[in-house]
Amino acid sequence: MGDQHFPKKTISSIFILTGAGISAESGVQTFRDKDGVWSKVRIEDVATPEAFARDPVRVHEFYNTRRAGLRTVEPNPAHFALARLEERYPGQVTLVTQNVDNLHERAGCRNVIHMHGELAKAFCAHCGGKAEAAGDLSQALVCTSCNAPGGMRPDVVWFGEIPYHLDTIYERLMEAGLFVSIGTSGAVYPAAGFVAEARAAGIRTLELNLEPSEGTVLFDEARHGPASVLVPAFVKDMLADRPA
Ligand code: OAD
Repeated sequence: MGDQHFPKKTISSIFILTGAGISAESGVQTFRDKDGVWSKVRIEDVATPEAFARDPVRVHEFYNTRRAGLRTVEPNPAHFALARLEERYPGQVTLVTQNVDNLHERAGCRNVIHMHGELAKAFCAHCGGKAEAAGDLSQALVCTSCNAPGGMRPDVVWFGEIPYHLDTIYERLMEAGLFVSIGTSGAVYPAAGFVAEARAAGIRTLELNLEPSEGTVLFDEARHGPASVLVPAFVKDMLADRPA
């Protein structure tokens, strides 16, 4: 690790992975920091299919609170910087997020791959039909696709479930010249494994995180500090010499 700079020559494809840390300065709680979500509530009580089968009311309450919280937060300079990168970078920019918030989209990103789903969506556990979820979900809701009651659940990937879009994600990762991991602890697979796979494929790797992540030694370069500072600086570097 060192104070290296990425070549000014355009990298034809950049793959960016974001985690809860990019939304922390917007006021969205992270999971594993000292006061994070998982210090207050147990994963097995709210974030598994078994928890939903056992106590759907509690699970709905947990996600309804988080969904309502989205209305009180705004994107921060890190989200806006990635939207600028997506808009202005001459090569391909793939943005994969583990976050279920909508702050990338609200900052103007157009192609966000939500590998852990989205709070603002629901799906029916009976038929798989998807629906927008602007407000609270409950057991009283009836699926608009199959008319079954009681099956509408948050469209978030729970522990024990397979993340979304993995084929596209690995395809894009292997095409990349640069892998950038932003605001993630590197504790949850498969996302935590992307850095090792990128490295094995000869792709340059960069970590932008408040502190060293669990996989920090695997990165070619790691910059530590708040995303609202590090991400705009990284984007400025990647867009150097490009007109605004
Ligand atoms: P974590 O809470 O595990 O990690 C957040 C990371 O962001 C930590 O490494 C922090 O140091 C860092 N961080 C905090 N504030 C920051 C800031 N202002 N700027 C930059 N970095 C900052 O969150 P994730 O890694 O996203 O999955 O967690 C991965 C998955 O675990 C989540 O998607 C969620 C969770 O359980 C599911 O619910 C399936």
